[in-house]
Amino acid sequence: MRTLPGMPTHPLAGQRALVTGATKGIGRAIAGALTRAGAQVGVVGRGVAEVEEVAEELGGWSLPGDVSDSADVARMLEEFQRVAEGVPDLLVLSAGVFSLAPVSELSMADFDHHLAVNLRGSVLFVQALLPRFLERGSGTIILIGSVAGRRGFPGNAAYSASKFGLRGVHEVLLEELRGTGVRSMLVEPSATDTSLWDPLDPDARADLPNRREMLRPEAVASAVVFLASLPREVQIPFLPIEASGPS
Ligand SMILES: NC(=O)c1ccc[n+]([C@@H]2O[C@H](COP(=O)([O-])OP(=O)(O)OC[C@H]3O[C@@H](n4cnc5c(N)ncnc54)[C@H](OP(=O)(O)O)[C@@H]3O)[C@@H](O)[C@H]2O)c1
Repeated sequence: MRTLPGMPTHPLAGQRALVTGATKGIGRAIAGALTRAGAQVGVVGRGVAEVEEVAEELGGWSLPGDVSDSADVARMLEEFQRVAEGVPDLLVLSAGVFSLAPVSELSMADFDHHLAVNLRGSVLFVQALLPRFLERGSGTIILIGSVAGRRGFPGNAAYSASKFGLRGVHEVLLEELRGTGVRSMLVEPSATDTSLWDPLDPDARADLPNRREMLRPEAVASAVVFLASLPREVQIPFLPIEASGPS
C-alpha cells in the first residue's frame, strides 16, 4: 500500500480482522493488505492446506470451513475467539462463486449454490457477530458485492440474484445499525482479474471483458483498507470500483 506524508503506516495496528474467501483473488489480496496495514487476520476458505498456507504466510489465524454451513460458521467464529482472544473488529466477506448461464438453461442446483455461498454465507457471519458488535458498540462489516448487484449482465441470473440480495441485506443493515457505532459498507467492484474467471477463459470470448481491462485484486484490497481505516464515526455506505483503463 502506498503511504502519503502524514498518513499512518499501520492504520489498523492492533485490530483483529476475519476475511472470508481469503485463499484466493480479492480476499487473498485483502488479507495481505490488512496485514500490511497492521491488522491480524483470520483466514477463511474451504481448502484446509490453502488456508493454513495463507495464514502462515501472513502470521494470521487458520480458519478452514464452508461459509454456507451454519455449523461451520459457528465453529470458525468460536475458533477465532479462542486464538484471537476476542471477537473481530473487522469482518470482510469476500467468499464467492460465479458461473454463467442464460435463465432458460440455469440449473437450479447452481442457482441455489450461488445464493448459499454469496448471500447466505455472508448473512450467517453477520448474524452470528452482530450481537457482539452491538454489545460492544463497534465493529466494521465490509461486504464484497459486485457491479452485478446493481445491474444485469447476460448469463448472470444466479450471480446477480445473490449480489442484489446482498445489497438488499446491506441496505437493511444501514437502517438497523444507524447510531449504534457498528458500520456496514458495501464494495462493488467491476470485473477483477482473479481465478474466478479461469473456467470461462474471458480473453478467448468477445462477450466477456478482457483480463487486461479488469481491476487488479490489489486495487480492491486498497479500497477495503481505506474503508477500514476511516475514523470510527464515518462510513462510506457504497463504494463502486471501476478500472479507469487497461493496466
Ligand atoms: N473477480 C471478479 O470479477 C469480481 C468482481 C466483483 C465482485 N467479485 C466478488 O469478489 C469476491 C471474491 O471473488 P474472487 O474473484 O476473488 O474469486 P476467487 O478468486 O474464485 O476466490 C473465491 C474465494 O472464495 C472462497 N470460497 C468459495 N466458496 C466458498 C465456501 N463455500 N466457503 C468458504 N470459502 C469459499 C474460495 O476458497 P475455496 O475455494 O478454498 O473455498 C476463494 O478463497 C466474490 O464475492 C465475488 O463475487 C469478484
